[in-house]
Amino acid sequence: MTSKLLWMSFVLVAITSSITFSLQPDRQKVLLVSFDGFRWDYLYRVPTPHFHYIMKYGVHVKQVNNIFITKTYPNHYTLITGLFAESHGIVANEMFDPILNKSFSLDHMNVYDSEFWDEAMPIWITNQKAGHTTGAAMWPGADVQIHKSFPSYYMPYNESISFEDRVAKIIEWFTLKEPINLGLLYWEDPDDMGHHLGPDSPLMEPVISDIDSKLGYLIDMLKKAKLWNVVNLIITSDHGMTQCSEDRIIELDLYLDKDLYTLIDQSPVAAILPREGKFEEVYEALVHAHPNLTVYKKEEIPERWHYKYNSRIQPIIAVADEGWYILRNKSDDFLLGNHGYDNAFAEMHPIFLAHGPAFRKNFTKEVMNSTDLYPLLCHLLNITAPPHNGSLRNVQDLLSSATLRAVSYTQSTTVFRDTSKSREYEQGQPYAYFLGISLGSIIVIVFFVISIKHLIRSQIPAFSDMQSEIAQPLLQA
Ligand SMILES: *[C@@H]1O[C@H](CO)[C@@H](O)[C@H](O)[C@H]1NC(C)=O
Ligand SMILES: *[C@@H]1O[C@H](CO)[C@@H](O)[C@H](O)[C@H]1NC(C)=O
Ligand SMILES: *[C@@H]1O[C@H](CO)[C@@H](O)[C@H](O)[C@H]1NC(C)=O
Ligand SMILES: *[C@@H]1O[C@H](CO)[C@@H](O)[C@H](O)[C@H]1NC(C)=O
Ligand SMILES: *[C@@H]1O[C@H](CO)[C@@H](O)[C@H](O)[C@H]1NC(C)=O
Ligand SMILES: *[C@@H]1O[C@H](CO)[C@@H](O)[C@H](O)[C@H]1NC(C)=O
Ligand SMILES: *[C@@H]1O[C@H](CO)[C@@H](O)[C@H](O)[C@H]1NC(C)=O
Ligand SMILES: *[C@@H]1O[C@H](CO)[C@@H](O)[C@H](O)[C@H]1NC(C)=O
Ligand SMILES: [Zn+2]
Repeated sequence: MTSKLLWMSFVLVAITSSITFSLQPDRQKVLLVSFDGFRWDYLYRVPTPHFHYIMKYGVHVKQVNNIFITKTYPNHYTLITGLFAESHGIVANEMFDPILNKSFSLDHMNVYDSEFWDEAMPIWITNQKAGHTTGAAMWPGADVQIHKSFPSYYMPYNESISFEDRVAKIIEWFTLKEPINLGLLYWEDPDDMGHHLGPDSPLMEPVISDIDSKLGYLIDMLKKAKLWNVVNLIITSDHGMTQCSEDRIIELDLYLDKDLYTLIDQSPVAAILPREGKFEEVYEALVHAHPNLTVYKKEEIPERWHYKYNSRIQPIIAVADEGWYILRNKSDDFLLGNHGYDNAFAEMHPIFLAHGPAFRKNFTKEVMNSTDLYPLLCHLLNITAPPHNGSLRNVQDLLSSATLRAVSYTQSTTVFRDTSKSREYEQGQPYAYFLGISLGSIIVIVFFVISIKHLIRSQIPAFSDMQSEIAQPLLQA
């Protein structure tokens, strides 16, 4: 009897501690999803029930201040490094580095040139150095060898691979025997369609509905894999989109001799490299050329853009007013929707929503900086963030009180108090952390009661019945 009791208590204590341990913040899992070009207000354009489901049972930030220039590669690299473009080095989708004497272009193989990416350390490297594993499904840059390494698992970029196939990979990686703790998932729309149709087109409505269905599919698959309450799902984007028009075109050829400069990046931020000795001539020709074009010498670029201190930022940049389009002449490609403009414009801002054990429920925050996502990710993954331009403190109110205790503990910041007394729990989706703690406590109490009873040699009737009663709720937890 005594050895059986001891054995039982050992098993119970082991189960209890493993449950409690497995729910500690250091075992947090994160899935970061980017729907390219998902403007903040698309959420209200058509019914988006799946996005609203996340908002209701998670957090929503209404305004996300992303970084200048509001293009895809610069902003995606910010999300995973916490750095402004001038500091992470991916300053545009089209670049020229005068020191390397090399070009970089979104549409060419030279995006695979490590030297462009090596100025920063993407989060998967830090995550893997800490002994964790990462899986990336088409995240921009994730198939590039950066600092001589790749994510633990990744899909080589191929835009023809369906959303469903990307989700399947993510689920596979999260359910491995040694699962990843960080997943990154990228989808090209609504950016692609936003460029072609223009965001004001009524045809954007089915495009947005389709993204909502895709999110619904992802939620379903996470639920099927029993990951829904385990993984912290963060849904965001790189930038928004604004309507352009053939009535708002700035033709550089009208003002500037083609032979005086090289156009490195075109619209809406023209990156201009004057030919040697032609700097003043180019600047003078452009500076008063068009009322909707603001021309900056590199050293005059406004500080608030944090877009100056990098050799890949060209000697002159010319920035179009919102909705204006820069072309050399009318034979250049023109798109009805574009982005890249001043990051102060609301139409350039993306979405931000999150759901999971680390996040509060039904919580709305007014504004955040996109650079703050990175320290939040590092906190959730329990990795030490290298120097960056964000601050966890700015976004810690998104976290549930249990997760926050860990924040105030590790950061010794002021203790945050959760004022929302009536916490809303999802139906059939127990709040795993507290459940683990409560079950653990009950088991410990029951164990002590049993031990005391045993010690005072009172009769313990039908011990085996009790054993199954204790064990069963645990197995379901
Ligand atoms: C975080 O990681 C460190 C090791 O880097 C580890 O000692 C610690 O237990 C982990 N968990 C928490 C909650 O800090
Ligand atoms: C830069 O590279 C080009 C070829 O891409 C070459 O013609 C040119 O000489 C190089 N310039 C310098 C300074 O090395
Ligand atoms: C991209 O994926 C498509 C569809 O699976 C496939 O047919 C194509 O060969 C792939 N392209 C590359 C470069 O792997
Ligand atoms: C374009 O310039 C005109 C003239 O300065 C100005 O009235 C207009 O507001 C500008 N457009 C935008 C979108 O800023
Ligand atoms: C427009 O510019 C491109 C590149 O400089 C040039 O090849 C093309 O001939 C120009 N087209 C017109 C209509 O001027
Ligand atoms: C969510 O919070 C808002 C107030 O912030 C409240 O009006 C609403 O009823 C809450 N919804 C749920 C489902 O709790
Ligand atoms: C965004 O960052 C700036 C500093 O770069 C800071 O002053 C500002 O308070 C931050 N905004 C939010 C909403 O945290
Ligand atoms: C951004 O962070 C990097 C790395 O710490 C730093 O070098 C840079 O000065 C920061 N930029 C700003 C504007 O604070
Ligand atoms: Zn785009």
